[in-house]
Amino acid sequence: MTQVIQSLLTPILLMQINLRLLTIKAILISILGKLTMTTKSSNYYRVTIKPSMASFDCAENESILKGAAKCGLYLCSNCQRGECGTCKVKMKKGQVKLDRFMLSALSPSEIDANYTLACRSYPRDHVELVAQLVGHVEAKHYERQED
Ligand code: FES
Repeated sequence: MTQVIQSLLTPILLMQINLRLLTIKAILISILGKLTMTTKSSNYYRVTIKPSMASFDCAENESILKGAAKCGLYLCSNCQRGECGTCKVKMKKGQVKLDRFMLSALSPSEIDANYTLACRSYPRDHVELVAQLVGHVEAKHYERQED
């Protein structure tokens, strides 16, 4: 009887420990991300989204997802922490710095195929990407609405 209880409890205990480790990891990533953000200058790069051809200027220290939102453009997203993959977009041109993410959100083969996560991508050049925007979007340059 004791062995049966132990065999049932062990996986539950391991899951609890794993969840606590993931929580600690997420907190550390968040703290490191904020520290990194505060030490960078703000160069801006042009981001163009196909097929709508909407464009906006994104600071190098903000994610493409946040930069778009500051200009009134909204990409599909969920966790905004690189964990769910909802904000996955295909890069056509340019370079981004891809911050930490979960492999369940973006696989190595997807990276090889030039996909990235908008919530974890920081522009390092003018960027063109393919993504669906929420709502009706005109083909124009969108100015920042806040800073
Ligand atoms: S919104 Fe979840 S990975 Fe970007």
